[in-house]
Amino acid sequence: MIVIGSDHTGIELKKNIIKYLQEKNIEVNDVTNFKDQTGDDYPDIAYIISKNVLKHECLGIAICGTGIGISIACNKVNGIRASVCTEKYMAKMTRMDNDANILCLGARLENTDALEIVDEFIQSEFAGGRHQRRVDKITQIEKCEKDGVTYGDSI
Ligand code: RB5
Repeated sequence: MIVIGSDHTGIELKKNIIKYLQEKNIEVNDVTNFKDQTGDDYPDIAYIISKNVLKHECLGIAICGTGIGISIACNKVNGIRASVCTEKYMAKMTRMDNDANILCLGARLENTDALEIVDEFIQSEFAGGRHQRRVDKITQIEKCEKDGVTYGDSI
């Protein structure tokens, strides 16, 4: 299952992605299918998407105007690794190296093929190995911040 959501800027792009994924028989859970989305704010949307991704242990797609605001907000939730991707290579590598669980897209960007990027993101897999050690360090930083202790001995 793929969790998807957008703020008001990304409603059309979200619909296109849902249609595209459903045509491929991929289950999609739109967690921001509200009646009125005119005054929504991307941090609220990011939080809903992030919590659903963690709950269902699946990948997510989060859309705002640039993809940036929603990625910043998603990354505040422990356990989320959200990446803005503007090209296929980024989508592939953020799955393989960073074990990213949320793809962030910008609905107002020009010259990006969102569907190609989505494809690459959902088809690529975490490579593990030395990358696991690095991802574990990200988790460790989260834990230190939560506990109010300094990470490592570098500062
Ligand atoms: C909303 O106007 C816009 O600021 C938002 O979608 C996003 O691009 C923020 O990063």
